[in-house]
Amino acid sequence: MSHPKHAQTDNPVHPLITQRWSPYAYSDKPVAKPDLLALFEAARWAASSYNEQPWVFLVATKDEPEDFKRLLSCLVPPNQIWASRAPVLVLACIRQTFSRNGHPNQVASHDLGLACGNICLEATARGLHVHMMAGIVPDKARVLFRIPEGVQPYTVMSIGYAADPATLPEDLRVQETTARTRKSLGEIVHTGEFGKSWV
Ligand SMILES: Cc1cc2nc3c(=O)[nH]c(=O)nc-3n(C[C@H](O)[C@H](O)[C@H](O)COP(=O)(O)O)c2cc1C
Repeated sequence: MSHPKHAQTDNPVHPLITQRWSPYAYSDKPVAKPDLLALFEAARWAASSYNEQPWVFLVATKDEPEDFKRLLSCLVPPNQIWASRAPVLVLACIRQTFSRNGHPNQVASHDLGLACGNICLEATARGLHVHMMAGIVPDKARVLFRIPEGVQPYTVMSIGYAADPATLPEDLRVQETTARTRKSLGEIVHTGEFGKSWV
């Protein structure tokens, strides 16, 4: 039987897509370094505008509890509640200008998204789960991790192995056990003019 969080798709897609989901409950099992390295290797090979590779990842694992606590403190409190259980947090940053000419890189966040997408899929292939967070305090991260001007702290990912939802507080447990939903293809794929479904 398929997992309740796996996507029920209208069209067949690769299992790495259907099996990726963002958990709140994490087991305390650590992530082996070769697995973490593979996730960043996957990010490294993402496409980017002018091959700028504007992403920089700052890792904090529970092997270094002070680092972990520091990065955890950069999350908004509701995210801290559940992300504190994950064994790994990663701050994802973007360089805001092109190294080739110093011009602003308007698609840096787009390219970070591609790199993070690669991380999610490589994680899924390894039985790991990633939960991305925009709910962070970037200015705090900048100070605590000495992030220079021109580099923007953008998101944080928690990475680890999903655990039994019973370990969660009530509100999160409900979310964790609710099936994932999506807009229909007709709503997001248009043709001819905006709003006219292609499907
Ligand atoms: C860029 C980004 C920021 C997100 N920020 C948060 C966040 O701050 N807190 C949170 O609980 N979930 C956050 N999420 C997770 C989304 O809520 C989640 O991906 C969405 O509900 C779809 O669920 P799924 O990933 O399980 O398919 C974020 C996801 C993305 C991609």
